[in-house]
Amino acid sequence: MDPRRLLVTDLDGTLLGDDAGLARFREWLAPRRSQERLVYASGRHLASIQALVEGSVLPRPDAMISAVGTEIHDPDGRAMPGWADRFADWDAGRVRDVLRPFRWLLPQAAEFQTSVKVSYEVEGLTDSDHETLRRKLLEAGVKAMVVYSGGRYLDILPAKAGKGVATRFLAEVWEIGPDETLAFGDSGNDTELLSSGFRGTIVANAQPELRMAVDTMVYHSPRSFADGVIDGIRHWTEVVT
Ligand code: GLC
Ligand code: MG
Repeated sequence: MDPRRLLVTDLDGTLLGDDAGLARFREWLAPRRSQERLVYASGRHLASIQALVEGSVLPRPDAMISAVGTEIHDPDGRAMPGWADRFADWDAGRVRDVLRPFRWLLPQAAEFQTSVKVSYEVEGLTDSDHETLRRKLLEAGVKAMVVYSGGRYLDILPAKAGKGVATRFLAEVWEIGPDETLAFGDSGNDTELLSSGFRGTIVANAQPELRMAVDTMVYHSPRSFADGVIDGIRHWTEVVT
């Protein structure tokens, strides 16, 4: 029988960050692997997630959502059919042009940019800066999501992208309902994932921007990193081992 539950977890600051916790997660998962669908949802690009899987740092997932919910690939690195077409009208060059006058936005290195994801570094972005950028893009007719993470990373994504939308896409393909979908995160780029009607868990080491933004019913784990993931699974499923 197909697995009836979907675990969608962020990587940096959630599943990654504490090696001992990650080892405990691997131990927890091993005997249950066939009962769970496991998906990584990260700001990282695909090759960097694949390297962690191939290096056996992370268990092999059932799918990878990379570049902040703009890409979905199967475990062999094949693009998920039917996903990328939704960004056909997105013009990353236009985003760069509109934001060029904001000299305090430092473009991230080329390897972190894609034809969909436009990323910058900026420390201490205020709510009012955030609003200014959002308004500028809107006025230029760009339907974008402005995502700030870890007090440092700024991603400009199509409004139709995000870890949560990508998760819903996979859940529909696999016919798994939102109540059977558990989501885990630690920072701003998990806000949309944890506000999408899934069973969410915020790990104890989470960034303030995530705690402040998520107002739906999520579980705030007292545990950090991968131990927070295990604790969140137990919280939502009441499985005691
Ligand atoms: C990862 C990506 C970076 C992105 C950040 C936040 O660190 O490499 O490009 O800005 O996540 O989403
Ligand atoms: Mg993270």
